[in-house]
Amino acid sequence: MIREHPTTPFTDQKPGTSGLRKKVRVFQQPNYAENFVQSVFDAIDGKDGATLVIGGDGRFLNREVIQVAIRMAAAAGFGRVIVGQGGILSTPAASNLIRIRGALGGLVLSASHNPGGPDEDFGIKYNIANGGPAPEKVTEAIHARTTTITVWRDVEADDIDLDRLGEVQVGDMVVEIVDPVADYAVLMEKLFDFDAIRAAKLTMAFDAMSAVTGPYATEILENRLGFARGTVRNGTPLPDFGGHHPDPNLVHAHELYETMMAPDAPDFGAASDGDGDRNLIIGRGRFVTPSDSLAMLAANAHLAPGYAQGLKGIARSMPTSAAADRVAAKLGIPAYETPTGWKFFGNLLDAGMATICGEESAGTGSDHVREKDGLWAVLLWLNILAATGKSVDQIARDHWATYGRNYYARHDYEGVESDRADALMAELRGRLATLPGERFGDLTVEAADDFAYEDPTDGSVSRNQGVRVLFAGGSRVVFRLSGTGTSGATLRVYLERFDAERIDEDTTEMLADIAAAADAIAGIVRHTGRDQPDVVT
Ligand code: G6P
Ligand code: ZN
Repeated sequence: MIREHPTTPFTDQKPGTSGLRKKVRVFQQPNYAENFVQSVFDAIDGKDGATLVIGGDGRFLNREVIQVAIRMAAAAGFGRVIVGQGGILSTPAASNLIRIRGALGGLVLSASHNPGGPDEDFGIKYNIANGGPAPEKVTEAIHARTTTITVWRDVEADDIDLDRLGEVQVGDMVVEIVDPVADYAVLMEKLFDFDAIRAAKLTMAFDAMSAVTGPYATEILENRLGFARGTVRNGTPLPDFGGHHPDPNLVHAHELYETMMAPDAPDFGAASDGDGDRNLIIGRGRFVTPSDSLAMLAANAHLAPGYAQGLKGIARSMPTSAAADRVAAKLGIPAYETPTGWKFFGNLLDAGMATICGEESAGTGSDHVREKDGLWAVLLWLNILAATGKSVDQIARDHWATYGRNYYARHDYEGVESDRADALMAELRGRLATLPGERFGDLTVEAADDFAYEDPTDGSVSRNQGVRVLFAGGSRVVFRLSGTGTSGATLRVYLERFDAERIDEDTTEMLADIAAAADAIAGIVRHTGRDQPDVVT
């Protein structure tokens, strides 16, 4: 029996960089989650008898929204819903399930690296049949629907037991509860040389940050690869991530950082975020920036069985450093520069134009799924360490000796009043035409623009994707506002400087001039009232 629930639109359901993210309290308003899920279902065709994947990172509200979404999927005509046991699916595992089960799409419930709990964040993202985040034309259709919605539908049914593997019936639809790790682990075993990694007898610390990768990392690293028990830290997913911020950067994963900088550090350290798609890589005594990690993984990927035949192309988001471009040039393969957001890689991967992609925001991945994949990056690093017998530090130094080094840092100014952040960006955009030729200390502006991207596969154009100021000699600064926050605005300032010879200098010192120029150009202190970034990564 299908029930119809009258509703009225909410005015704030426009999906951001990565789905709809809001405070839990916002999602708890009557009809709020239901309106959005119904808008997703109304915006997509082909639901009759189709399969839908549903899973999340286990954060507060995960189970409740899954129960609601199951009843609504049954009313929308889906034939089967596949749910991870306990409501758990890492974002890359959800992407994999959508692909291998031929699903129409999936609902990924997460706010990624944002904190969880009753006063923190929740999110709903729709992924399409290729396993990747819905492209803009789909998210625009979903948003349009949220502004006109008058009714949402479900079937009358009890909550199901999300913890029991197997199939149950909800209305005319089958709900299948699956082991969230099994299929993903099989995929990883296909891509990487598990025997070689086992034989290398490396030591490692992996911080799952009380988030979704705990069960995945425990099964793959400890059970299948033989790393010692206790290698995986904070391995149980908690609804509030233990009160921590599940963002794998040097601020929020500082315990791992301290472990890796200690004299008795293990060979390799890594962490992942709330939903398992980001990664942090730290070798003994050596932090690897996400931009460098992308370049180093691309340069060495052929050492892993899944990439032995070579790469078709490398894609990076615009604010990501150009280190990966240098690898692409050496390999003689194309390099692509896309706007921020994994969804922009989907078409390149589907078209076979790129094999490996990555972003400065700690995401790396390949054509094995259509999301970035934290554990994948960890396993590729381990495969490279095993195949070369080198340490992370040696790999990094050898890489810079070959390609030169792109010194890189991101400065985040968080919780800035939206009006002030918008004013900063507007003023900056207004200066673009006159910036070329201006001097800031020893730096001369060569070019400045607001990044626009034309997708080479379908010709779609995305404008206003961040302001780039390029200096003579290859340094640059990029300014953009975060698209993933849930309160106020976050200004991100990305600093980059290339040096072919001086490859082992202090990053802060190497970037000091560019940081000063960034403030002079954008008036960061004047607009934000802050004289220091909140987070430097
Ligand atoms: C999400 C997306 C990433 C993107 C990031 C940017 O994590 O999945 O692809 O790089 O958001 O976040 P920002 O806060 O900078 O918009
Ligand atoms: Zn994430």
